[in-house]
Amino acid sequence: MSTQRIFPDGFLWGGAIAANQAEGAWNVDGKGLSTADMATYKRNLGKGDYKKHNAVSDEQLKKAMEDKSDQDYPKRRGIDFYHRYPEDLAYMQEMGLRTLRLSIAWTRIYPNGDEAVPNEAGLAFYDRLFDEMLGRGIEPLVTLSHYEMPMHLVNQYGGWTSREVVDFFVRYCTTVFNRYKNKVKYWITFNEIDGIVRHPFTNGGIVPDRFGEAEQVEQAVYQALHHQFVASALAVKLCHEIIPGAQIGCMLTSLLHYPHTCNPQDVLAAHKNNEFNLFFTDVQVRGIYPGYIQRFFKDKGIEIAKAEGDDQALRKHTADFISFSYYNSFVASAESEGLEKVSGNTMGGIKNPHLPLSEWGWQIDPIGLRLTMSNLYNRYQIPLYVVENGLGAYDKVEEDGAIHDPYRIDYLRSHIEQIHEAILDGVEVIGYTAWGIIDLISYSSSEMEKRYGLIHVDQDNDGNGTLERRRKDSFYWYKDVIRNNGL
Ligand code: BG6
Repeated sequence: MSTQRIFPDGFLWGGAIAANQAEGAWNVDGKGLSTADMATYKRNLGKGDYKKHNAVSDEQLKKAMEDKSDQDYPKRRGIDFYHRYPEDLAYMQEMGLRTLRLSIAWTRIYPNGDEAVPNEAGLAFYDRLFDEMLGRGIEPLVTLSHYEMPMHLVNQYGGWTSREVVDFFVRYCTTVFNRYKNKVKYWITFNEIDGIVRHPFTNGGIVPDRFGEAEQVEQAVYQALHHQFVASALAVKLCHEIIPGAQIGCMLTSLLHYPHTCNPQDVLAAHKNNEFNLFFTDVQVRGIYPGYIQRFFKDKGIEIAKAEGDDQALRKHTADFISFSYYNSFVASAESEGLEKVSGNTMGGIKNPHLPLSEWGWQIDPIGLRLTMSNLYNRYQIPLYVVENGLGAYDKVEEDGAIHDPYRIDYLRSHIEQIHEAILDGVEVIGYTAWGIIDLISYSSSEMEKRYGLIHVDQDNDGNGTLERRRKDSFYWYKDVIRNNGL
């Protein structure tokens, strides 16, 4: 390990949250119902059962639409960031954060998604929020769509399968770019755009029951994805036109796979998984559907309906930077029968005997982050932005109020070291935003007690607690890291 420290000056050290996991206030100031408001905390499911946690049925949605309480729907209450953001930002300022990644809830701006006129109260909220951030020296990095969309668009239009949703999204983007053009210079279009293939409802507003058999659902997913690719390209175009000097990136769940053995069949299996993971950045950075995906579509009989101008838009309005989440790595094998399995971020896989596991069974692999950065940079040669990385763990509040979380410090330190190694290799990196800088509701399982934060929030899985904020040991550690620019 090199001892030379060369994080660039101006490196954006920060934290990350998302509107639907933090804000709460699900029915305040005219906000409409979003897909995230439908997510239930399923007490009886195992920790690793991400598929069941994410599954939605028509019946469950009807029930959720009628239910006006937040009891079973933790994302409706979040951590009340909507009202407590000044206090939270004060903690973040104390930590020295140079940036905070957050998202705008589409349903605060256009409650149903298809209105002609935006909701002023929603716009005013983000004005106050961005002003507070800027006043504290915290640069906003804003995701336009982080795992939520208006339920009205799901019910009336079939979510992103509908072409019209592209127009509604473009209207939403135009509104927020114009409104916040003097406040926000860094944007991300879709959070983990690749996630639509694993959780069609969360990313695409696709209710599988409404589309039929698995093949039809798959067809719907790739059509919806195409619409998101186009919407993302149009957002890039608009952002450049409306906010000169702004940078807007795409966002990928990094899912690095190692071969189980050196058997070429295993190597090919890992290669295919890695290639599939890069399909999304190939479209958003190179501006083309790569040959291996065209073959995949052909083999599966998937046909993408494209409108005139789509291909040109994809080619012309590519991302300025690649942002990505990285939590763990995976193992691929040509024959996985009988091999031990583990869980992971939005997907699971085969166990890697060389890696320790988090309490949620995710494989901890800092070197995988360096490999990911090297792969992405060598392929695309545009700046990277590590916008999610962190450890979900149980924390204990001691009698004196302290929270000792050396496991989180170890996780963050070892990953930051690998970012540094990548920088030494010449990889351009804009910044690092630790996921869940403050405890928030888990995306996949809607739990609260799977904590990522460096700031603790007093709330349990059932919503009990004072919501009081507390500094963890990792808070002080990260403060030092930032003060010393990575030293
Ligand atoms: C990423 C998401 O996939 O992983 C976040 O963008 C999410 O929204 C994070 O919170 C961690 O996953 P989870 O399910 O542990 O919250």
